[in-house]
This record gives sequence, structure tokens and C-alpha cells, in this order.
Amino acid sequence: MSEAKKTIFSGVQPSGKLTLGNYLGAIRNFPILQEEYNCIYCVVDMHAITVRQDPAMLRKQTLEVLAQYIACGLDPEKSTLFIQSHVPAHAELAWVLNCYTMFGEASRMTQFKDKSSKHADNVNVGLFDYPVLMAADILLYQTDMVPVGVDQLQHIELARNIAQRFNGVYSDTFVMPEPYIPKAGAKIMSLADPTRKMSKSDENQNSFVLLMDKPEDIMRKFKRAVTDSDSRIIMSDEKPGVSNLITIYSLATGKSVDEVEKEFAGKGYGEFKPAVGEAVVELLRPIREKTEDLLRNKDYLESVYREGAGKAAYAARKTLDKVYRKVGFVKR
Ligand code: TRP
Repeated sequence: MSEAKKTIFSGVQPSGKLTLGNYLGAIRNFPILQEEYNCIYCVVDMHAITVRQDPAMLRKQTLEVLAQYIACGLDPEKSTLFIQSHVPAHAELAWVLNCYTMFGEASRMTQFKDKSSKHADNVNVGLFDYPVLMAADILLYQTDMVPVGVDQLQHIELARNIAQRFNGVYSDTFVMPEPYIPKAGAKIMSLADPTRKMSKSDENQNSFVLLMDKPEDIMRKFKRAVTDSDSRIIMSDEKPGVSNLITIYSLATGKSVDEVEKEFAGKGYGEFKPAVGEAVVELLRPIREKTEDLLRNKDYLESVYREGAGKAAYAARKTLDKVYRKVGFVKR
């Protein structure tokens, strides 16, 4: 890892399901970011078990996320791709950071409160500690920037508070991480309710497109996409459904919004919606095929995450050694 480049750390839940929204909003830019930054992508399986998981599914989905990231253009030679549980320093630093996190501040985390009410039968200590493990993820790599959605800003703030507290007691140890909201990221809305963000947890399966969806499913979802009674194909605040489809079509084809409006001037939704569907099918086809290929070729995938864990462990160990020395642990 080059010292001159800034470090970006990103944690991704092994839910296995990435949407077109995730892709157009963030992942699409990863291949560009990796040229400019030292990028570390970690599949956070240890975070995942704070809610009950089916073990076989967790294993499968962890590999699926990795494969999809590579298929989207992340180059394991340029970026570091690894699985959280393969680098013990995450758990080790989390323990130390626990002792520098106040019970009160952890209690204020809104995601903990949300998840506690959602999983009332399993409000475990790991769920409470989730943000401290996340702080360890970030601080271990002397991370400058963390790409996250707004729902994670409070966790970044906590990581900064912990880092500042530790640095204050023991002198500079951790780089202060900043949240990174990508400028080029497009916000893709639900196909069923274009006033809401596209989300894989939506009950309505037709409201989102998954990177791994089959072409016929993608076509069906776009044909059913909600529009409005005025049939003009133009970008407008009054036409959130049509505007969302124009954004998607424009990003999928590389055509400007102007060009798209001209292309479909005088035409109706009956022509427009299938055209968007086809553009998305073609956009996602190589990603789906590459992912399927990688999942069949387990040896390659294994070599990627092993090598990634090796690189990550080396960087993480440097930070952890410093931390252990500062708090007064005897050198091994
Ligand atoms: N909590 C993040 C989410 O749900 C996932 C995550 C875990 C993460 N560790 C991280 C994100 C470190 C950024 C940095 O999306």
C-alpha cells in the first residue's frame, strides 16, 4: 500500500444482494477511485452475526458480494479485498476501543435502537457493540475517507470521538476519518414508488433491480415501473417516476439527459420503458456473467480474499502494535 495515496475504507454487509441503485450510486465509481486512492473493501461478516444468520447462507453471500465487487471492476491487484473475520486485528482493536467508548455514547446510536426494536427477541451485546467494531475497522487502516450513506454518519462520528479520545490520552495514534459522500453518485429511486430510494429490503420485489436479476425479470420490472398519466418523456420534479427512468437510461447508455429526451420526444411509455429495461439488461449482463464465472471458479476467489487478508493484516498489525504498546501491554 502506497503511503502517498489517501486511504478509503469501505465495509459492506454480506447480504449477497446488490441493487442497480447500489451500482449506479456508488459501486460504478469504485474502479475510478482505486486509481487515485488506496482502497480497502471489507466484507463485514462479523457485523452480520449481530443479527441471527443462517450459516450456509452467510458463507454463500459473503462470497457472492466479493464476486460481484470484482465483476464490477474492482481489481484485486489495485484494491485490497478481504473478509473481516480473516483479520483478527479487527476483533482485537475493537476490544481495546470498547474501553475507550462510553456506555452513554454507545447508547445514543439510533441504529442500535432501531435494530433492538426490530429484533426484540435478540438484543445481544454484539448489536450494542456494532459501532465500536466499525470504528476498529476504520481506525486500523489509518483511514482518511469512509464512503457511507447518511444512515452511517452517526457511526463515523462515534469513530471520530473514540479516535480523538484515544489520541488525546496517548498522543497521535489514529488518523481522523472523514465521511465521504461521492459527488458523482446518482440517487436511484424505487420503480414502484419513485419518491423513495431503491432498496433491496423493500417488500415489493418489483421496486428494485438486483445486479444478479435475469433479463426477463429486469424487463418485467421496468415494464411495470410507475410513471404518471402525462405521457411526455421529460425530466421534471412533477414526474419523479419518468425522471428516475431517464436517469437510469442515461447512466446505462452514456447518453446525456438532453439526448434521451430528444430520442423519445413524441413517443410513449410503451416504447420508453422496454428501452430502459433493455439498456439495463445490457449494462448488467457482463457483471452477472463475470460474477457467475467467479463463483464457479472458487480457487481464484479464494486466492483473492487470502491475498487481501494478508495485505490487510500487515497494515492492521502496525496500528494494533502501536495501540498495544501505548496502553501498556508487554511486547510479545
Ligand atoms: N455499518 C455499515 C453498513 O451497515 C457496514 C460497515 C461495517 C462499515 N464496518 C464499516 C462501513 C466500516 C464503513 C466502514 O453499511
